[in-house]
Amino acid sequence: MYQIMRLKLKITPLLLLLCVFLITTNCVNQNSKIQLGTHSNQEVIAAMTLEEKVQLLVGDDPGFPRGYPSMFGGDDTLFMTQPPVVGKTEKLVPGAAGTTFGIPRLGIPAIVLADGPAGVRIDPHRADTSKTYFATAFPIESLLACTWDTALVREVGATMGKEALEYGVDILLAPALNIHRNPLGGRNFEYYSEDPVISGRMAAAMVKGVQSNGVGTSIKHFAANNNETNRMSINAMVSEETLREIYLKGFEIAVKESAPWTVMSAYNKINGTYSAENPWLLDSVLRDQWGFDGFVMTDWFAGRNRIEQVKAGNDLLMPGSKYVASQIKAAVEKGELDEKTVDRNIDRILKVIKRTPKFKKYQYNDNPDLKQHAAVALQAATEGMVLLKNEDKTLPLKETAEKIGAFGIGTFETIAVGTGSGNVNMAYTTSIQQGLENLGYEIPVNLIEAYKNHVIAEKKRIGEKKSYFDPDVMLNEMDWSKHALEAVASVCDVGLFTISRTSGEFADRKIEGDFELTAIEKNMIEKLAKAFHAANKKLVVLLNIGGVIETASWKEDADAILLAWQPGQEAGNAVAQILSGKVSPSGKLTMSFPVKYADVPSSEYFPDPTLDPKEVNYEEGSLVGYRHYSANQIETSYEFGFGLSYTDFEYNDLTLIPSEGNKFNIELTVTNAGAEKGREVVQLYVQVEGEKMIQLKHFSKTALLQPGESTTLQFEITPEDLASYDSEQAEWKTDAGEYAILIGSSSEKVRLTTTLRLEKEQTL
Ligand code: BGC
Repeated sequence: MYQIMRLKLKITPLLLLLCVFLITTNCVNQNSKIQLGTHSNQEVIAAMTLEEKVQLLVGDDPGFPRGYPSMFGGDDTLFMTQPPVVGKTEKLVPGAAGTTFGIPRLGIPAIVLADGPAGVRIDPHRADTSKTYFATAFPIESLLACTWDTALVREVGATMGKEALEYGVDILLAPALNIHRNPLGGRNFEYYSEDPVISGRMAAAMVKGVQSNGVGTSIKHFAANNNETNRMSINAMVSEETLREIYLKGFEIAVKESAPWTVMSAYNKINGTYSAENPWLLDSVLRDQWGFDGFVMTDWFAGRNRIEQVKAGNDLLMPGSKYVASQIKAAVEKGELDEKTVDRNIDRILKVIKRTPKFKKYQYNDNPDLKQHAAVALQAATEGMVLLKNEDKTLPLKETAEKIGAFGIGTFETIAVGTGSGNVNMAYTTSIQQGLENLGYEIPVNLIEAYKNHVIAEKKRIGEKKSYFDPDVMLNEMDWSKHALEAVASVCDVGLFTISRTSGEFADRKIEGDFELTAIEKNMIEKLAKAFHAANKKLVVLLNIGGVIETASWKEDADAILLAWQPGQEAGNAVAQILSGKVSPSGKLTMSFPVKYADVPSSEYFPDPTLDPKEVNYEEGSLVGYRHYSANQIETSYEFGFGLSYTDFEYNDLTLIPSEGNKFNIELTVTNAGAEKGREVVQLYVQVEGEKMIQLKHFSKTALLQPGESTTLQFEITPEDLASYDSEQAEWKTDAGEYAILIGSSSEKVRLTTTLRLEKEQTL
């Protein structure tokens, strides 16, 4: 009996254990049958453990050495366990910026996020294979905007998206559309314009193009991320009116026109609150007012308070770490964070995951059509270069101009795109020298040799970059004696000098030697002009740059100036097509080139890195770029909207017809009145009664017009176009009164005008 009792006592705990085991495995089995896609998101979320939930909220920790975040002003303590690096993972697609956390038992794949604005940024080489994974370097966004051609930008997006798809990328971390508030902004090359309408419409075109492949986008950096100095913590002090009219407007247009899958919040604070922790920005404005229905992700390592980010509707925290996940889990367990909030964010992430190629099990081929993509990059590059000066028809080069006296490092080492996450690992960059040679032009061998040796010596002097993410150090330009230049001028048909600049993440540009030319560059232009003009020959200056530079002090010396930007990997071929006249330039500026830095409206308030600023004041308000120059009648070196062509255009027959809902239809005729074929960019500005400031509202680029050919352009003006933001009432409203409609070939060259009248004030 006693023995039976002992046996029973032994069996009971065993039986209990068995029951518990059976019940739990049954539960897990039940749950493991739950799959994303076949079950609702709610069912999938209900089947997740808290551990899984918090892991999905943060990216899949890429596991990089500690100390990386602090190098960029981030917080190392947030990455205690396996601290990662900015924008780089070895998982799934090596060199992509990051991945999300996969939960295979619920059918949730890890998805791949990769930069960026000028092309897919992934590693070109992988361990254990000789196969390469180069990506196409398209022109930088500033150049793309200068095409003013949304159809073309959409095509660039479609091509970039196709490349992302075939390399296994689910979301492209692009386009970036912060405003060019100041020419010193280190990442301006990644952005479109100083104007929000251009920025928004270009971004929308890019989003539509990329997403036409079933690949997502992340429009970034939301918002008021206009400088690199102390970018991870700086507090942008900016009024709501200015935010709404300038810094949020482009995002609003892009969200409403193109429904991007995701938005990347910015590093900086806005009026005291981190963008990523800001429910007003992410919930009220973005979701409630604009109807955004995707998910928001942080920029890499952004912000300080992870719990506030989750609460604010910053759904995904990138690049993710186990420590951050554990922080969120602890907050839920302690009741500091409602699990429902976690579920809400997960639901948004899952909705997007369900659209991805990874979820749809798309079999990518790792073999995109790089040749065809290069052709698109080339076409875009030629369409966005801006001819700034062309005295006596210096360009296109005469057929007899065969030998080019080419100077400047950029002629031989042309810069395709900027640095940091806006960089691309491309297979090649065609230099300007190669592009010219491809079209049969000749550059004296001694020049080629001299620059080759100079570049080798300069690179040796500067040494290797410590990290891929470090900004490039500019090589010192080569100085030539007057005598040597005269010798070259005597045997060449035309002179050419290239000025190059590069910049990128983590640092803004400097005034001296960057915005302004270096002493050697200034001297070289002066000496070249003298030598070539004395030999009765012309001097062409090429600008291979990513941001605005000073041009007023030296432009007189040049006979022609072509703003080639950083034109992507087909740089040289694109330049050669314009110089030779195969393509007539049709790009126009989407930013102003001021006479001097002090003229820039934010020049006094732009953060000075030497002062370690905690705050940046947007004192100039909405008067950014040409808005300021027009309002205060300040002369620029090259105004917003400016760009020459090899042909001329006439504007005629402007009509304005009111239509229902306080709208107005505008029509005009543009005629190619010159002797070459070409395309014209027509800009529609609005000027409110009694104001000097003008505002771009619409634009259109004609098709290629043959000499003598005309085309009709139409625009529709809506009450939204005429509205301004009233921060007291917290609403957009259109005042009664007169509005001048200025049709310009630039912001200063107004060709046709008309006026419309609104009888009544209207709240929108
Ligand atoms: C940049 C983002 C980029 C991310 C991932 C950050 O440093 O600000 O634009 O998408 O890195 O590489």
